[in-house]
Amino acid sequence: MTVEKAVLKVYRYNPEKDEKPYYREYEVPVDQAQTLLDALFYIQENLDPSLSFRFFCRAAVCGSCAMKVNGISRLACKTPFKPLVERSKGKPITVEPLNFLAPIKDLVVDHDKPFESLKNLETWLEPKKPVPEKEYRVSPEEVKSYERPTNCILCFACYGSCEAVMDDPKYAGPYAFSRVYRYVLDSRNDEEHKKEMVKRAMEVGDIWGCVQCQKCIYVCPKGVRPAEDIQNVRGIAAEYGFKEYPGVKKLQHFVDWVYATGQINRLALPEEVYGVDPTPLINKFKERGAEVWEVPKPLPGLIEFRDLILEVMKEKKPHLDIDFHHVRKIDKKVEEVFNADVCTKITQHFEEKKEDFFTRFWKKVSQFLGAS
Ligand code: SF4
Ligand code: SF4
Ligand code: FES
Repeated sequence: MTVEKAVLKVYRYNPEKDEKPYYREYEVPVDQAQTLLDALFYIQENLDPSLSFRFFCRAAVCGSCAMKVNGISRLACKTPFKPLVERSKGKPITVEPLNFLAPIKDLVVDHDKPFESLKNLETWLEPKKPVPEKEYRVSPEEVKSYERPTNCILCFACYGSCEAVMDDPKYAGPYAFSRVYRYVLDSRNDEEHKKEMVKRAMEVGDIWGCVQCQKCIYVCPKGVRPAEDIQNVRGIAAEYGFKEYPGVKKLQHFVDWVYATGQINRLALPEEVYGVDPTPLINKFKERGAEVWEVPKPLPGLIEFRDLILEVMKEKKPHLDIDFHHVRKIDKKVEEVFNADVCTKITQHFEEKKEDFFTRFWKKVSQFLGAS
């Protein structure tokens, strides 16, 4: 019986010897490996003892064997080999080190930078003052609330997949913000220290740089959901009243414009958030023939929509107050552009337009039927 073999195309690089990285292909018998980590061991033990990779627990606990497999960050010890071979459909399986981390040798990368980020964001527990004489009691509900981010094993698979890390060397990384969130939820932590962590997440870690691509959620081997934790920490920043930060201003901008018109207004955003004149941007759009809505068309049914927003915010996000002073200014612009009183006429205006559309459409259909 012939043994099925898979080809692994492995990234090789020894900065002390090689001018540049290269790939080497190895044939591994599929029945010799349960996991990708076993396949790497097979190579090291039988084909090429110089291959370097990191591992420890072999059970998806220590986080040391994260690498890029066919372009996606994975734990080698948690990647079953046969299904991987089947998914690769006869093509070589590419194995590379994680992105964005300095190479040490072959698949081994330097973890210092992401660990440094955790220190810089002070992601730890500072006991509440005064320190209680007895032990802290933490309810099961509270433990549940931060169970998911606590499951992070610092494998940095998310870091190696992150769009924000790719664009911004200052960006701390998904795992780091999950950790901030975890310690902000912890009732044993000192309130001032929680605020400091959130402040650092903004100032040192650049948390507003996250583009919400969700890749960190997709690749995490432990079910941590950093993209969601990031949104939560951003909300907490607003809750703490850090209103001077561009990200919080942006949040406020969204709340006000959505409340006023039902939509965000990207053209007003540079001015309201960064104090930058948007005219050159608007002119550029116009030059290219794009339709520019300096004020977005309010949604039909806007008044009911406003009531709904107020209700939701009152219950769930009381800290994100609608800035009514700002909203009135937007209303005024809407009135000028659409020649309608926001509180009554806009809704009617759109309802009438909708009726017009249906009447015209029906007329056309009738004409067509009459003509045939
Ligand atoms: S959602 Fe944010 S943190 Fe997660 S990978 Fe994308 S940019 Fe990075
Ligand atoms: S969040 Fe998930 S992918 Fe990121 S370091 Fe933690 S365990 Fe790894
Ligand atoms: S060897 Fe520990 S997570 Fe893979």
